[in-house]
Amino acid sequence: MKVLTDRGEEPPGATPLDEEELEGLKQSWITTRGDLNEAEADNILSGQSKWTKRRNTLDRILDDKTVRDLHKDLFGQVWSWAGTYRRTERTIGIDPIYISVEVRNLVEDAKYWFAENSDLSIDAAAVRFHHKLVAIHPFANGNGRHSRFMTDLILRALGAPEFTWGGSQGNVLSTATEVRAKYLAALRAGDVGDCEPLLSFVRS
Ligand SMILES: Nc1ncnc2c1ncn2[C@@H]1O[C@H](COP(=O)(O)OP(=O)(O)OP(=O)(O)O)[C@@H](O)[C@H]1O
Ligand SMILES: [Mg+2]
Repeated sequence: MKVLTDRGEEPPGATPLDEEELEGLKQSWITTRGDLNEAEADNILSGQSKWTKRRNTLDRILDDKTVRDLHKDLFGQVWSWAGTYRRTERTIGIDPIYISVEVRNLVEDAKYWFAENSDLSIDAAAVRFHHKLVAIHPFANGNGRHSRFMTDLILRALGAPEFTWGGSQGNVLSTATEVRAKYLAALRAGDVGDCEPLLSFVRS
């Protein structure tokens, strides 16, 4: 079984993996957190290009199968459980038994948030979608990166500019930086119903 040697270096607000999930590592050369980051980054790049090359409609993206397919495309070369909902509890996220119904509700609700006659601006709808998806926390890992990219895909489908996520398309958020601290604080404000900090963060 694989043991990541520097597991203590998870950035704040990131979810550590349990033993069962660590066993889902597909590439035997991965032994450290650095190896894992590298493998995930490669996988994410190829997964993202597959989705950005396509012409995606809002309807196609706002679908619970897309939520899973996208996670599989971003992480499936690294983790055997990519694209499948988590079965274990996390400090962030809902009880695993409700994930599938809550993701389905989210994509259906979001169709109204993004509709032309919606009271919400596109940015406000996108921020609400992002926050809700990470708050559900459907997967064992990769929720932040998956949800940020999915939100950007929605913006693209609507012809709106993608979010800047505090500076560099969200990449800076995976390490323990001041920007990440700001992002997490904005998500926690969202947890108690105030999406304003996140709304300004995503275009900062
Ligand atoms: N209080 C919170 N409320 C809602 N979402 C949160 C909260 N704290 C953290 N999150 C989300 O959880 C993500 C971390 O979960 P996870 O480790 O599954 O994602 P990741 O993609 O591996 O991490 P990262 O975002 O660091 O690249 C954060 O990026 C953030 O989006
Ligand atoms: Mg993580």
